[in-house]
Amino acid sequence: MVIKKARLTIDDKTLELDILSGSLGPGVIDINSLFKSGYFTYDLGFNSTAACESKITFIDGDKGVLLYRGYPIEQLASQSNFLEVCYLLLNGELPTPKQYQDFCKEIAHHTMVHEQISNFYNGFRRDAHPMAIMVGVVGALSAFYHDTLDINNPEHRAISALRLIGKMPTIAAMCYKYSIGQPFMPPQNHLSYADNFLHMMYATPCEKFAINPVLVRAIDRIFILHADHEQNASTSTVRLAGSTGANPFACISAGIGALWGPAHGGANEAVLNMLQEIGDIKHINKYIARAKDPNDTFRLMGFGHRVYKNYDPRAKVMRETCHEVLDAIGLHDAPIFKLAMELERIALQDDYFIEKKLYPNVDFYSGITLSAIGIPTNMFTVIFALARTVGWVAQWNEMISNPYRLGRPRQLYTGYKERDYKDIQKRND
Ligand code: CMC
Repeated sequence: MVIKKARLTIDDKTLELDILSGSLGPGVIDINSLFKSGYFTYDLGFNSTAACESKITFIDGDKGVLLYRGYPIEQLASQSNFLEVCYLLLNGELPTPKQYQDFCKEIAHHTMVHEQISNFYNGFRRDAHPMAIMVGVVGALSAFYHDTLDINNPEHRAISALRLIGKMPTIAAMCYKYSIGQPFMPPQNHLSYADNFLHMMYATPCEKFAINPVLVRAIDRIFILHADHEQNASTSTVRLAGSTGANPFACISAGIGALWGPAHGGANEAVLNMLQEIGDIKHINKYIARAKDPNDTFRLMGFGHRVYKNYDPRAKVMRETCHEVLDAIGLHDAPIFKLAMELERIALQDDYFIEKKLYPNVDFYSGITLSAIGIPTNMFTVIFALARTVGWVAQWNEMISNPYRLGRPRQLYTGYKERDYKDIQKRND
C-alpha cells in the first residue's frame, strides 16, 4: 500500500517515488522505475534494500523481535516443535491436529534417500568437509526427481518441499557416518524428527540406542531457531537462483553454499574453533583486544549481527537450552565451556561491544550446545542447513507462487573505459 511519496531531485528534475508500507517494519521507497532516469542506486551489502515482498518472517533488529508468520520465536521454541513450525512456515497457519498428523506422515514418507545416493559418498575423501558433501548431494537430488521438477506446478513444488525437509537429516547424518567410517543408519519413522536425526548420527547396527530426551529437545529447538530468518545471505541466494527458473534442489544447494561462510552459518563452527584457539581463560583479554583492534582481522565469532542491534532473541532461547544441556550431561565445569561463559561475561561488559551493540548471537550458544551434545565441529553448519531448508523452501515457493522477475543487480563500474586490443607480440613484459 502506498502511504506517501518521496521526492528525489537530480539536477533540475524531481522524481516522485512511492513509499510503500508493509504490515510491520519501516516504509519502503519503491525505486523500481529509477533506472529510467539514468541512475541506479548503490547499496553495498544491501544495507537499505528490500529485494522482495514476503509474508513469512519478520525481524525488528532494534527491539530484538523475531516472528514466524506472526508468532514470536520464544513461544514457538517453548511450546511448538520443529515439524509444526515447518508446517507453519510453508502454509502460513498452525496446523489442526489432523493436518499436523498428515504432515508428519508425509515427511516421514520421504526420509529415505535413493540407494544410488549412497554411492555418491564413496566419491568423497573421508576427511571431506560435510558441507562440501551436502552441497553436492542436495544439488544431485535434481537428477533423481526430474519428473516432478516443473516449478510452475504447485504440486511439484509441494512434493519437492516434502522431499527436501524429509531427506535433509538423512543426508546430514550420512555425511557424519561416512567421515567416521561407520555404516549408514536408515531413518526410523516412528521417532520424532530430531530424535530420528540423532539416531541416524549415533546409533550403530550392533547395539540398542537411546538418547537423553533433554538433548533431543535441544536439537529440536536448534532446528526451530534456525528455521527461517527473512532475507539473509543464503535465503537471498536461494531466491536469486530461483528467479532464474532453476529447480528447487539446485536452489537449495546454492543456499547451502552461501550459508557455509563464517560470517553467516559457518559462525557456529567458527565459535568452537575460536574457543579452542583461545585455549584458556587467561588468554581472553588478549583476544578481546585483538577483536577491538581495527588493524587486526580477528573478530569475536558468535558476536554481532547485521540486523540485531539488540539481543538476538534466538540467542536468549539458545542460552537457556545451552545451560539445560550442560546441566543434563554434567559438563558445566569442562574447561571449554567455562571459557565460553567467561568470554561472554567479559565481552558483555566491554565498552567496545556495548557501544557497537555487539551481543552474542544464536551461533555462540548453538555452537557450545552442539559441542556439548558431542556433535563434531564440522557438522555444526550442516545442522544449520538442515534446519534452514524449510525456510529456504518456503521463501522460494512464496516467490514462485507470486509474480516475480529475474534477479539481476546492477553495479557501479570503476574499471577501464573502452580500449583497443593489443597484439601479444606488441606487449612488453
Ligand atoms: N567482533 C569484533 N568487532 C565486530 C564484530 C565482532 N564479532 N562484529 C562487528 N564488529 C565491529 C566491526 O569491526 C565494525 O566496527 P567499525 O564500526 O569500527 O568498523 C562494527 O562492529 C560494525 O560491524 P560490521 O562488520 O559493519 O557489521 P555487519 O553488519 O557487516 O556484520 C556480522 C555483521 C555478523 C558479519 C559481524 O558482526 C561478524 O562478523 N560477526 C562474527 C560472525 C558471526 O557471529 N556471524 C553469525 C551471524 S548470526 C547467524 C546468522 O544469522 O547467519
